[in-house]
Amino acid sequence: MDSAHFKTSPQTPLPVVATGENKRRVFIKSFGCQMNVYDADRMADVLAPEGYDTTNTPESADLIILNTCNIREKAAEKVYSELGRLREIKLDRAKSGKETLVAVAGCVAQAEGAGLLRNTKTVDLVVGSQSYHKLPELLAKVRTKQRVVDTEFPTGDKFASLPMAARERVQARGASAFLTIQEGCDKFCTFCVVPYTRGAEISRPVAKIVEEATHLASAGVREVSLLGQNVNAYHGQGPNGGSATLTQLLYALADVPHLERLRYTTSHPNDMSDELIEAHKYLPKLMPSLHLPVQSGSNRILKAMNRKHTHEEYRCIIDKVRQARPDIALTSDFIVGYPGETDAEFEDTVKLVHDIEFAAAYSFKYSPRPGTPAADHKTQISEAVMQERLLHLQSLLRQQQIAFNQQTIGRTVNVLVEKQGRMDGQMGGRSPYAQAVHFNGNISMIGTIVPVTITTLMPNSLTGLYTP
Ligand code: 5AD
Ligand code: SF4
Repeated sequence: MDSAHFKTSPQTPLPVVATGENKRRVFIKSFGCQMNVYDADRMADVLAPEGYDTTNTPESADLIILNTCNIREKAAEKVYSELGRLREIKLDRAKSGKETLVAVAGCVAQAEGAGLLRNTKTVDLVVGSQSYHKLPELLAKVRTKQRVVDTEFPTGDKFASLPMAARERVQARGASAFLTIQEGCDKFCTFCVVPYTRGAEISRPVAKIVEEATHLASAGVREVSLLGQNVNAYHGQGPNGGSATLTQLLYALADVPHLERLRYTTSHPNDMSDELIEAHKYLPKLMPSLHLPVQSGSNRILKAMNRKHTHEEYRCIIDKVRQARPDIALTSDFIVGYPGETDAEFEDTVKLVHDIEFAAAYSFKYSPRPGTPAADHKTQISEAVMQERLLHLQSLLRQQQIAFNQQTIGRTVNVLVEKQGRMDGQMGGRSPYAQAVHFNGNISMIGTIVPVTITTLMPNSLTGLYTP
């Protein structure tokens, strides 16, 4: 997926929207990537006209949705253990006469399909990542006591059937929003499940994206992160019928009133066009950060992974990006212990990291995914070797992250104010480089962009001073 900010832990709970007494409640727990966070919000939007408000506790929910991820590790096992807990909740609620429907959505749903219904009685509905716009009709079927599976890859446009989020729901979600513009992947890296779970690449039309962004901005959103498994391969329908590039889309979005900041993730090196690189120089609303996964610094491993680029080509792209925007925050993804990876090949990765100097990066032990070509490889690397390589790489990446953040100390950066901090009189937001920044302020500043002089480096954020 080449997608930034993957987490193995659940995401922050969805904002709770005020509930009326006889309303139904939905609890959505999302795992994995930012696209799942976006999907979870859209599921809540589809369910809102059906009378569902969101809740942060499964115990108070009439409908529980697990929005799953299976990019790495024992994803299905995790879902089954989560379902074990939900079974107890379902039984407890049944004792007081309350019905609880349980749905599994997302990539595990897509991969496991009807297997989920066979293996556990707790699940009422399995809904794949391309079918969740049909939730109302699928739930209606479930209420007639059928258990339902829908993991089709429909030919129609899922997004066209999704309602716009109500204004108050957008406001509850904050000043920074995700917006999926492209889904699926045709690249077939040998380690990756995404082409199987999210299907072939599709891009939404420019007009639809601009419409959604305009709606978000009119409700208070100031920053939009455009999402796609291969976001820079975007080729949606443009205004004159032909296909538009991501760069053209970015320029169109830069004209949306009140939208101040644009980001995009996740990109593939092979689709990093010169015009997109140049946009980092000429488009002020495009923030100076780029997530460009490389996975490995060894050409033999890159070839085995079917990445179709060399480490030299990657370095050349980075040089061009830095010429266009010298201060850009570069981030990446790495896999250690790909089948057959030798010590020397791992050292090639270390050398690449050493030479490039990243602002941050995600690194993972290779995890065989059933159905992918690399999973059948005979020379799997031992857990001990993978662990050692991972620790080594992560310690280098951590040093680079600290060095990058240290460069901001003493500088005044524009911070988009997103929320209150933990301490009294403290606010939190993001710098142009996507760093978390805490500073003195008050809630009236939420949604504005303010200059903050960075003073201190904390373990996972920066502290600064706002001088009105
Ligand atoms: N094993 C380990 N890491 C993986 N990723 C994707 N598939 C696997 C796998 N099978 C990582 C890649 C990708 C990121 C989203 O997850 O680094 O860029
Ligand atoms: Fe990214 Fe490769 Fe997976 Fe496609 S197949 S989503 S390019 S890692």
